[in-house]
Amino acid sequence: MKNVIFWFSGSGNSKYVATRIFEEVSKVDEDTVILYIADLIREGKMKFDIEHNGSVGFVFPTYFWGVPQIVRDFVSNLELEGITQETAIYQVLTCGGSTGMADKSFSKLLSARGYHVRETFSVSMPDNYCILLDLMTPKEQIVPLLEEAGIKLDKVIPAIISRCVKKKNNISGELLIDRGVHPKLKSRLLYPLYKYGRRTSPFYADDKCIGCGKCVKVCPMDIITMSEDRPQWKKGRCTQCLACLHHCPVESVQYGRKTQGRLRYVIDPYL
Ligand SMILES: Cc1cc2nc3c(=O)[nH]c(=O)nc-3n(C[C@H](O)[C@H](O)[C@H](O)COP(=O)(O)O)c2cc1C
Repeated sequence: MKNVIFWFSGSGNSKYVATRIFEEVSKVDEDTVILYIADLIREGKMKFDIEHNGSVGFVFPTYFWGVPQIVRDFVSNLELEGITQETAIYQVLTCGGSTGMADKSFSKLLSARGYHVRETFSVSMPDNYCILLDLMTPKEQIVPLLEEAGIKLDKVIPAIISRCVKKKNNISGELLIDRGVHPKLKSRLLYPLYKYGRRTSPFYADDKCIGCGKCVKVCPMDIITMSEDRPQWKKGRCTQCLACLHHCPVESVQYGRKTQGRLRYVIDPYL
């Protein structure tokens, strides 16, 4: 394959970004595919033949100023055949504010596999984090924020096409990445907390549950099963994408006591 875009997403922001990139890159070069990381892990598909002058993109959300576990797992098993210095590898991180050093962590993970990121971009989008703290973007700010994200994407996508697909460096670097303030400190101190956040034991469905099974369908790690019309989370750790919590049509999925009454967010109604 010539151009491939790998993506992961919990509430749809990164999926939207990956899809927009795919649509625009496909117009320039038909030999372009978009692949969902969770499906690839399920199918055990980790090996890809890339044309030497192709491009490889990774689009995923920032978690605790670092990389989602599912993306880490994918990359640590990834085999890209045919990669040369000509192949352009890029990453696009979505975030609710800033990325910290998440891009550097991702670049390091890829380097360990022998692949090197050439271009890095970030797009700030509605924040979907509501567990330890309530950082959810207020409802009235979602549309303006998505409009701003659209404006940024209108710069990022031509840059990807120009630098990674056509391999011309004619767009300035001003739009690359927003790591925020004290990025090293944040990533170093806060990313270690992610592993505690990934515990599945606090998840439950409250009395509002209608037994629709949507949470089971959207879970990228297949750790939710239905038992007597109620979801059960397998013991252990998940990637904490919160897809189960945000996609629940009746806001029944909770994580501990704090998420009751907190906002939910999925991008679909706003598109
Ligand atoms: C577990 C978790 C941790 C997060 N950590 C950060 C963070 O460190 N910095 C940030 O700006 N946003 C953070 N967010 C917000 C998401 O990165 C942001 O909303 C992202 O666009 C969600 O993408 P998705 O809709 O593709 O899942 C976090 C969200 C979750 C669920």
